Amino acid sequence: MHILITAGPTREPLDPVRYLTNRSSGRMGYALAEAARNEEHEVTLISGPVTLPAPEGIHLVKVETAREMYEAVQKHLSKADAAIFAAAVADYRPAVKAEQKIKKGAETLTLELERTEDILGSARSVFGFKGCLVGFAAETEKLIEHAQDKLVRKGCDLIIANDVSQPGIGFDSVENAVTLCLPGGRTQVMPRQSKAALAGELIQLISRLAR
Ligand code: CTP
Ligand code: CA
Repeated sequence: MHILITAGPTREPLDPVRYLTNRSSGRMGYALAEAARNEEHEVTLISGPVTLPAPEGIHLVKVETAREMYEAVQKHLSKADAAIFAAAVADYRPAVKAEQKIKKGAETLTLELERTEDILGSARSVFGFKGCLVGFAAETEKLIEHAQDKLVRKGCDLIIANDVSQPGIGFDSVENAVTLCLPGGRTQVMPRQSKAALAGELIQLISRLAR
């Protein structure tokens, strides 16, 4: 199978020397890419800026902004049998990027932000993707409720829900614990383990769902 994966944060420039971003190491997405490759799947990894080395034996597409990630997904999605959206995409970007460095002046500064493209939310509705569609939901409260809502709203086959209020798991960590949210309100808890081990189990489940 061909699996497309998004990973890492995006960076939204404010001026030539500053940007808005999200907390994300990219580890979960990269672990999924490696696990998929280890299962002999063809992998396209669309990655925001991370410090991780490029996994061998996969097609890596590097992007910075949400718009670049959106365009890269649009370009590569049609050849995928399954798509896993693990990126922490910025929800807003500065409405204007200053041409020159913004100089320090008044005591307060208000930024105007505009919404970015919802990449996962466009997979079915804009790109017409018919394959197995998997998203993540990072939540600090009402984990299952929010994840189920995203499952339905974005037309997913699976949402991997992450409780990011718990220390030691989630975005900057080596380990993760997740709850799987499936259509019809079904859920399944996957206990805390390394992201590599979790990725292996998730790829097996996703390849079953995609068949
Ligand atoms: N996602 C995306 N493009 C965006 C925002 C999110 O592709 N612009 C994807 C993420 O990669 C993840 C899923 O959508 O797989 C859910 O991301 P999340 O931030 O939890 O959901 P949002 O829809 O942005 O809602 P909110 O941040 O308000 O909870
Ligand atoms: Ca978001």
